[in-house]
Amino acid sequence: MGKFNLSVVGLGKLGVCTAACFVYKGYKVLGLDINKKTINLVNQSKAPVIEPRLQELLDKSRSNFRATTDSKKIIKNSDITFFIVPTPSKKDHSFSDECLKAALKPLAQDLKNKKAYHLFVIVSTVSPGTIEKKLIPLIEKYSAKKLNKDFGVCYNPEFIALGDVINGLLKPDMVLIGESDKRAGDKLEAIYKRVCENKPYIARMSIISAEIAKISLNVYVTMKITFANTLGRVCEKIEGAEIDKITAALGADKRVSPYFLKAGLSYAGPCFPRDNRAFYIFAKNCGVDALLSKATDYLNRFYVQYTTEKILKLVKNSKNKAVSILGLAYKVNTPEIEESVSIEIIRRLLLENKNIKISVYDPLAMENVRKIFGERIHYASSIDHCLSQSALWVIAQPHPEFKKIHHLHKKHLKKQKRITIIDFWRHLEPKKLHRKVRHLRTGHFHGEINGNRNRKS
Ligand SMILES: NC(=O)c1ccc[n+]([C@@H]2O[C@H](COP(=O)([O-])OP(=O)(O)OC[C@H]3O[C@@H](n4cnc5c(N)ncnc54)[C@H](O)[C@@H]3O)[C@@H](O)[C@H]2O)c1
Repeated sequence: MGKFNLSVVGLGKLGVCTAACFVYKGYKVLGLDINKKTINLVNQSKAPVIEPRLQELLDKSRSNFRATTDSKKIIKNSDITFFIVPTPSKKDHSFSDECLKAALKPLAQDLKNKKAYHLFVIVSTVSPGTIEKKLIPLIEKYSAKKLNKDFGVCYNPEFIALGDVINGLLKPDMVLIGESDKRAGDKLEAIYKRVCENKPYIARMSIISAEIAKISLNVYVTMKITFANTLGRVCEKIEGAEIDKITAALGADKRVSPYFLKAGLSYAGPCFPRDNRAFYIFAKNCGVDALLSKATDYLNRFYVQYTTEKILKLVKNSKNKAVSILGLAYKVNTPEIEESVSIEIIRRLLLENKNIKISVYDPLAMENVRKIFGERIHYASSIDHCLSQSALWVIAQPHPEFKKIHHLHKKHLKKQKRITIIDFWRHLEPKKLHRKVRHLRTGHFHGEINGNRNRKS
């Protein structure tokens, strides 16, 4: 098998992209996964997940990226191992470390017979305290070796977003390194110096600090999203108020910054909601009531309800009780639907109106959505097909393809007397829509749709 520079355990959505970036920057990488299908695909240089640029990088990888299901090969054939296995949320919102422990145990046992130093890099999201309290003792127990003498440990979480993983890995704003000692941190920093195409801020600290920093960052970002959405709801009540002009002004101030300050459906995906909830639980266990993250979660759940009510009201007043929803993944360019707001809206619409007819379209996520809703909703074969099913269109994702509505809507207007569009991202240009289209942009006055009735909230 020969010697590899690095090994990556867990070749899923994040792991395979991380490994591909290492290979792209000249490392020889050995991957390990329990999924044989993934291993076969990687060994044929075929992308096992949908992610922009991944196939391009794999095409260039040649024999420098090999994968196996045999954990025995990892410790023997590499000196630095990255762990990128799932850490699903538990009922109490903390992260499960079961997969990490299952992945670490056989490698720790193999470390027993290794003379050279080995660096274990945990990339998976963990609850603060996990690495020092649980994972390092596990490695020491099964290897009978000493931390910082025979092996080192780093915590190195990523802050990527699906659909943009490769760019996020090659050009991060910041590389977070929690280190068991300087030697471990130096080795990991050297890798990032070679891999990153920009010069990111390298944040080195203790392992526990890095564990806290990882989830705190997402708590902060979700707080910004929530603030923008609250501001958007206020603007919907006031004629003339323009949400994007307001947030652009706020974002221009250095103290605020423009990122994730757009009203929309971004409290979603595999990281934001669960990191936010995990922080709340972590703080609570430390005796601190983190009301900010509690409020963020509450307000976003409320926002889904508020949005569903708006759609239900429009469906009730429509002729065929139908709605067309464009955009189902939690964001553009990914098939991932975990914690997607569209999915939650569909779930609630089905629950609250038994007669509703829902037609959906997404460029990548249709198969995943079918697994959830089966025959209860209609799966359109194109944007046009989806639009043809109703006179109420919901744009739940700012996908560039959805701009086709600018010209597509005209032909549908011939059949429908009036079309209503709920545009969550203000993706369409009002000037490009016929006057018979009622274009409801979030963060803009919605007139009688919102009304001014008091809500129970
Ligand atoms: N996906 C994201 O956007 C993202 C972003 C930041 C952090 N993370 C974190 O990264 C971790 C991985 O996330 P993901 O989205 O890549 O998950 P994933 O489910 O897409 O992939 C995990 C992979 O690990 C493999 N695996 C499971 N147990 C294993 C074992 N014992 N040995 C070897 N392989 C094993 C699975 O077969 C799978 O291929 C999680 O902790 C997640 O929170 C994910």
